[in-house]
Amino acid sequence: MEDAYRVVGGKPLKGEVKLSGAKNVALKTIIAALLFKNQVVLKNIPVINDVVELIHLINGLGVKASFTDTNTITIDPSTLTSNKVDMLHASKIRVSFMLFAPLLHRFKECFVPNPGGCRIGARPIDRIIAGMRSLGVSLAYNSQTGFYEASMNKVRGEFTFEKTTHTGTELLVMLAVLGTNTVVLHNAASEPEIDDLIEFLNASGAQITRNGDSVTIHGVSELTQNEPFAITNDRNELVTYAVLAIATKGDITVGDIPRSHIDEFLKMLEKTGGGCELLSDTRFRFFYKGHLSPTNIETAPHPGFMTDWQPNWAVLMTQATGESTIHERIFENRFVYVAELEKLGAKIEYISPEIENIESFYHFSVNKEKPDEQAIKIIGLTPLHNAVLRIHDLRAGACLLIAALVADGESIIKGSTILERGYENIVEKITSIGGDVSKL
Ligand code: EPZ
Repeated sequence: MEDAYRVVGGKPLKGEVKLSGAKNVALKTIIAALLFKNQVVLKNIPVINDVVELIHLINGLGVKASFTDTNTITIDPSTLTSNKVDMLHASKIRVSFMLFAPLLHRFKECFVPNPGGCRIGARPIDRIIAGMRSLGVSLAYNSQTGFYEASMNKVRGEFTFEKTTHTGTELLVMLAVLGTNTVVLHNAASEPEIDDLIEFLNASGAQITRNGDSVTIHGVSELTQNEPFAITNDRNELVTYAVLAIATKGDITVGDIPRSHIDEFLKMLEKTGGGCELLSDTRFRFFYKGHLSPTNIETAPHPGFMTDWQPNWAVLMTQATGESTIHERIFENRFVYVAELEKLGAKIEYISPEIENIESFYHFSVNKEKPDEQAIKIIGLTPLHNAVLRIHDLRAGACLLIAALVADGESIIKGSTILERGYENIVEKITSIGGDVSKL
């Protein structure tokens, strides 16, 4: 079996797609389950490579955890016996650094590898380390071994993030959830995935409240689950199928996502002229209703236009009449897909918009000179033709799959396992709405 897809594009995709559970909630609730006293059952967990990798990683810590039913995971936190995370497994799954929380609560000290960067940027955890230290965790990085050595008795106090961080907010919440003290986080991130994690913890006895951009956590003595918890669906997957519907001149219904999770996407979709019918507060019909107008997007933390959506949006804008721009403010290397889209005939140029204060404008740590390749101009409407493509990162993978389904002719997309890190049953789902995709 090749690590590739064969795609024949050029047809409108029509039908209804059942969304899977959110990858970026599944990973955190599995890690948070290790904080619990008794068995934890999580439902609506997608069978994707990142989840499978994380299960292998915690199995390596002695934890009994596995899929016990379709999209249902059962975890026995009492079987956690090791406080040292395996370097090889950790290198495959970025969120492995979040294991600081359960390991410190269980063993008071632990050894966790530096997560390191990935395709979309250096992704340091300096702000997260600063938060952990300020709350009472002592941390030393051993550059010989590549491990952080951490120890903790109790966390307490207040911490203000210099810039918001999604997983940083989640990790500090998990560190503060058990104990006898109160922790207050300011300038906390507000992505809906964080609220799902908080709901999961509060349903099992935690005392976490959000007030504007602050989160207050009153430590409790233990967490016990009374009934299985079903995580929310994946809003990134919804956006992928919404863009597919309009870019292929089709008609796709998707659902079970609160509208508040995708408000900014719906606003931009209306601006460009994509069709959207609200079938209920959580179900949406996306359809092509005529020519698309160009747009200008700046990615931002929630409730802004999410960075994970911009690669999909770029494909859509190749089908809009006029010049569109996308300015990426969250990660410093999120346009790797541009060179691949150009193989299909897309016309895209890098631009350098004037920015007043680059340090506060970008969410990544900006090195001294002006960062380049943070913004692109897409010239539409350009018909797309087939090509041989390579996936470099997860969200770029979805963008290339959409583009190959828009393009006329047969394309080959290499790197299917990267896409399957975050998209469950992608071939079956695309086939069910009339798409011609097969694994090679
Ligand atoms: C989470 O990444 C998601 N990943 C990302 O989804 C998502 O794009 C991002 O949040 C924004 O919502 C998971 O939840 C597993 P950040 P995270 O910390 O937490 C920099 C996907 O495809 N930063 O909010 O890593 C950081 O490098 C992924 O599912 C520091 O410099 O995002 C980034 O440039 C992609 N130091 C920016 O801040 C720190 O200590 C925002 O990062 C922390 C972050």
